[in-house]
Amino acid sequence: MFVVAINWHTDGYHNAANRQIHALNLHVVMQAASGGENQLMDHEIAYILLREKNPDYIRALMAPKAMTIPARIDEGGTVARPEEPGAVFAIMPSGDLHMRYTIRVNNVIWADDPLSREALACLQEILNNPSPYIYRGRLESGMGLVSNNVLHDRAGFTDDATHKRHYYRARYSTAWKAPASRIFTRCDPSQTTRGATRRPLCVTT
Ligand SMILES: [Fe+2]
Repeated sequence: MFVVAINWHTDGYHNAANRQIHALNLHVVMQAASGGENQLMDHEIAYILLREKNPDYIRALMAPKAMTIPARIDEGGTVARPEEPGAVFAIMPSGDLHMRYTIRVNNVIWADDPLSREALACLQEILNNPSPYIYRGRLESGMGLVSNNVLHDRAGFTDDATHKRHYYRARYSTAWKAPASRIFTRCDPSQTTRGATRRPLCVTT
């Protein structure tokens, strides 16, 4: 079975402003038969490269409506998820840089002014070209990733009868006003949350 690639993004870009993902950890139980490599770029590097090119790019991408995820409307016409406008780059109260981004163009409404378009084109150029700041690798079984939700993509992969890609993912969110020490939570990958989307059970400590 072949599963298609996922292009550059940070996790949770479609989430509400107070439910952004500030840390993303992965653990590989089993890797696919082939494929599934990741590319990673620290979003602080992306910020610096953009700022060096033109500081106004940063101002454009920090605008409160730089990027809007359209509302999701159910078949019955009810709003399953409201429209989510927000900045691409934001500074958390802790002083850390947060990035909310997807390189996809469908189902995203970008600020439609010349400077924003130029800034986005520059960011795409940074991500789509060779760079010493882009790390490429394939996480093998038993390996993992601890990150503050850096920019990443994932190549397509193929499973076979004995190699079925199986990852644990832990995504951590904190309210804007929570102290930084509460970002990280205790997580038990052997237990999962209830509901359609099952995730490792995490407890704030
Ligand atoms: Fe992701």
